[in-house]
Amino acid sequence: MSLTTVDESAPAAASRIIHPVWVRITHWVNAIAMIVMIMSGWQIYNASPLFPFLFPRDITLGGWLAGALLWHFAAMWLLMINGIVYVTLGILSGRFRRKLFPVTPRAVFADVKAALTFKLSHDDLSVYNAVQKLLYLGVILAGFVVVLSGLAIWKPVQLQTLTAVFGGYDAARYVHFFAMAAIVGFLVVHVALALLVPKSLRSMITGR
Ligand code: HEM
Repeated sequence: MSLTTVDESAPAAASRIIHPVWVRITHWVNAIAMIVMIMSGWQIYNASPLFPFLFPRDITLGGWLAGALLWHFAAMWLLMINGIVYVTLGILSGRFRRKLFPVTPRAVFADVKAALTFKLSHDDLSVYNAVQKLLYLGVILAGFVVVLSGLAIWKPVQLQTLTAVFGGYDAARYVHFFAMAAIVGFLVVHVALALLVPKSLRSMITGR
């Protein structure tokens, strides 16, 4: 089976499939892995904070530093393997090229203006608007940065070249924190928009 048949290219019933099954599975596995990584990451942060604040205990996972590290290192594999599957299939199937490109500054400005004046159309769920394209590309990039900076602070001796690319262990910790903050910022907007346009949420579950 060709990877493209489940996307937009096939006629009739299959053409109504907006999100093929591999997108839906990797999306929801990613959501679970990300939430575990973020909440356990906050607990790890609390043991040695970078800034003069702590994350409230109720929104952290693991109970204490060692517990949180176990969660973080377990979900890390899920996040990485799932992310590799999503990005590989996204490239090979042509989905990234079709759905996420091109994205021009002019189109982003036009769609931001349309959104602010409530004129942005959500009729055709198979097409992402320019703001969605930018946000999805941005969060995929943030995903790469969070994983690579995480590897850099996990194995700073074995992966010293990678750690050096981030400017050393301490700098890599800040990069890791800010990539997490970008993902959390995305998540707040993303979940709010999914709830505002419930049919988009349904389509990410049923595919149609
Ligand atoms: C946990 C709550 C989440 C909900 C309710 C949710 C909901 C959705 C929905 C409804 C769509 C489809 C949008 C549309 O068809 O217009 C979508 C797509 C997407 N979401 Fe999420 N999402 C969640 C978590 C995440 C997380 C944690 C990430 C990444 C950090 C993420 C990244 C994406 C990306 C990249 C797409 C586009 C996928 C593609 O078309 O290949 N989502 N999400």
